[in-house]
Amino acid sequence: MPCRLSFRYDSAEAPETVINRRKFLQRSGLATTALLMSRSGFGMTHGDGTTAPTFATAIDPTTLTKFVDPLPLPQIAKASEYRAHPSIPKLKLPYYRIAIQPTTAKIHRDLNPTRQWSYGPSSPGPAFETRSGEGILVEWANQLPTNHFLPIDHHIHGADAGKPQVRTVAHLHGAKTAPESDGYPEDWQVPGKSALYYYPNQQDAAMLWYHDHTLGINRLNVYAGLVGTFMIRDSVEDALNLPKGKYEIPLVLYDRLLTKDGQLLYPVSADPEAPWVPEVFGNAILANGKLFPYLEVEPRKYRLRVLNASNSRFYHLSLSSGSANAIANGQIGMNQIGTDQGLLPSPVPLKTLVIAPGERADLVVDFSEHLGEQILVKNDAFDVMQFRVSASKVNDESSLPTSLRPVQKIPESEAVKTRLLTLDEYDTPKGETELMLLNGSHWSMPITEKPVFNTTEIWSLMNPTNDSHPIHLHLVRFQILDRRAYEPWLYQTKREIHYIGAALPPQPNEAGWKDTVRVDSRTVTRIIVPFTGFTGRYVWHCHILEHEDNEMMRPYEVVAPG
Ligand code: C2O
Ligand code: CU
Repeated sequence: MPCRLSFRYDSAEAPETVINRRKFLQRSGLATTALLMSRSGFGMTHGDGTTAPTFATAIDPTTLTKFVDPLPLPQIAKASEYRAHPSIPKLKLPYYRIAIQPTTAKIHRDLNPTRQWSYGPSSPGPAFETRSGEGILVEWANQLPTNHFLPIDHHIHGADAGKPQVRTVAHLHGAKTAPESDGYPEDWQVPGKSALYYYPNQQDAAMLWYHDHTLGINRLNVYAGLVGTFMIRDSVEDALNLPKGKYEIPLVLYDRLLTKDGQLLYPVSADPEAPWVPEVFGNAILANGKLFPYLEVEPRKYRLRVLNASNSRFYHLSLSSGSANAIANGQIGMNQIGTDQGLLPSPVPLKTLVIAPGERADLVVDFSEHLGEQILVKNDAFDVMQFRVSASKVNDESSLPTSLRPVQKIPESEAVKTRLLTLDEYDTPKGETELMLLNGSHWSMPITEKPVFNTTEIWSLMNPTNDSHPIHLHLVRFQILDRRAYEPWLYQTKREIHYIGAALPPQPNEAGWKDTVRVDSRTVTRIIVPFTGFTGRYVWHCHILEHEDNEMMRPYEVVAPG
């Protein structure tokens, strides 16, 4: 019997019984890779009968030549026909069909093609271009084989051996969507089946993204490649004259571990019966599916739409000119103009962008002073990609306005309810993480969060763990009120909240509409959330996918008043 099982906690015991005092794996350090590597390599067999690659076969990506492949730009998704609106049959909507399929792709010139799963022909999948108020229909068709190629942990809730190995359900992250089209984690489809979803797009311009959300194997399906971008445009954005067309570049970032023959390597624990690992950090950071790509740019403004689609890794991104002292001297400023749910009130100048899994950042970068230079996008010391600025001057007619879109602050007095919700980690006596919960509750327990439709609530997210967790709520957009350090032990033992620091307002680049919030270690992070759009059952969860899969996810329900 795997050791993890003997330490499952009953809801009654959690979370009082255990407080995590173990120094947890460092969020973005490459050192973590080595840590995880030492725990693995136990000839795990995949569902499809192949042997899981071990770390002995992992490549060191720094041995590869950098900047030999152009940055891939995703194809724009195309509607194939018009079909009837789900409840207004006279209304015809653009209909898209997206095949979820196996594929292979070159991640780097000098690597063999990598086996992946993708929406459409390659990963990231096709980019949707839509307009606010103009709904679309998408049929997500599962055309995958019946066996998985990454290590399923059958002890995880929802992934028991009785379930089909290959299941998918697509979720449009950040969208205001009715429950039946939201990709509820239990609404999965097996190969040969499909789901027709309606996205009304009744929301402000923003970069959303779609990804798999299948209960218990979400981390594996996303790691296999099931991600893509979804833009909503509107007239407010149009009027700003921001860089557009070929001057607007999506940057989908995720990290992977790769074998020497170029295949995806998903780490496993030392226990072959229970291969789940609490976090995954790849030593190769990919941009739009390529390792170390380059992009030729003109000396002018560009708009970069950054998405952190990693399973676990937080990024600290900066731009630097390629000279030797780049980090010290050559750092290039950027302006953040938008966050998860759209434009900020005004541009925020940044040297380093911190972005957690699930979050998006809308950036304007000006290359006009860098004629003929090579600019690196760095994550700490890792060179993610290179911009090659051409040497001849160009005319740039785009603008970077000083005010973008007003964001009306929601007064706290508007909240009809405040909920205190804890983020919980459970460890074995050996200090190995075995389970993560929200508010001490398993996925299958009765729904406890039932906000009333069209009311506003404050959610106080209390994090006693040593990790920062990016918490995401489906359906809604919210504002961050503050983060405040508290003393976890007093809460653990006496249920007393003792704040040990001032309430810190959100960073300027978080002071817009968000759908994912970093809840930092040993803070209470407060968000204020209007529950509008639809009633029904949704989910909220940690966007570290390893946490989410091992139950750091809960249903919630927006209920009709009365
Ligand atoms: Cu990005 Cu529940 O998802
Ligand atoms: Cu988490």
